[in-house]
Amino acid sequence: MAKLLHLSCSPRAESVSTAGARVFLDGFRQARPDWDIDVVDIWRERMPEFTGPIIEAKYARMKAQGFTDAQRDSFAEAERMALRFALADRVLISTPMWNFGLPYKLKQWFDIIVQPGLTFRFDPSRGYLPLLKDRPTLVIIASGSDFATGMNRGRTDMATPYLREILRFIGISNVRFVLVGPTTGPQAPIDAACERAHQRLAAMATAF
Ligand SMILES: Cc1cc2nc3c(=O)[nH]c(=O)nc-3n(C[C@H](O)[C@H](O)[C@H](O)COP(=O)(O)O)c2cc1C
Repeated sequence: MAKLLHLSCSPRAESVSTAGARVFLDGFRQARPDWDIDVVDIWRERMPEFTGPIIEAKYARMKAQGFTDAQRDSFAEAERMALRFALADRVLISTPMWNFGLPYKLKQWFDIIVQPGLTFRFDPSRGYLPLLKDRPTLVIIASGSDFATGMNRGRTDMATPYLREILRFIGISNVRFVLVGPTTGPQAPIDAACERAHQRLAAMATAF
């Protein structure tokens, strides 16, 4: 069965990024009722801390060395998570912007799955090569400031370029971004930003 994987990255019940994802998924389910939607709640997902055997496994791989038993066990966790992602035909990431970048749980998820021989490889003559097949991917980022129209009071969005680059590094280049903001401050601009984003998301859902 075809599968959309949703990485849901806000821990908030009143989350704006999750609300955007809901609008998108409602439209997507109508357009593709036979698709499986696999939700990874990044705050509930079992994820190893990136210390001890799992980081040593990464270095062992980079040096083309064998694993210890502990490294093999922890690398199996990375394989399980990467496989769940690799098997998705479409990807949706909904996330808040935190301190100009990503919530640390989403960064942890990337630190675990971005591994040599799993999602990328290094070729001495050609450099770094991605191992995942490309697939349509949508990223929804909610931010207190308005990065959608540029009224961001001079602050920088490092979430968008980071996600574009890390996804490209492992093979996913077909990525569209929907920025929702402002989500803090006076209510009228918040409502307008959500309305604009929801209209766009509903329209994108039918042809994703
Ligand atoms: C820890 C933290 C850091 C934040 N950093 C930023 C920031 O750098 N830029 C910004 O525009 N908003 C920032 N915000 C505001 C959130 O991006 C905003 O509330 C957004 O709606 C959160 O997404 P969510 O509603 O899906 O949880 C921050 C919020 C928190 C809790």
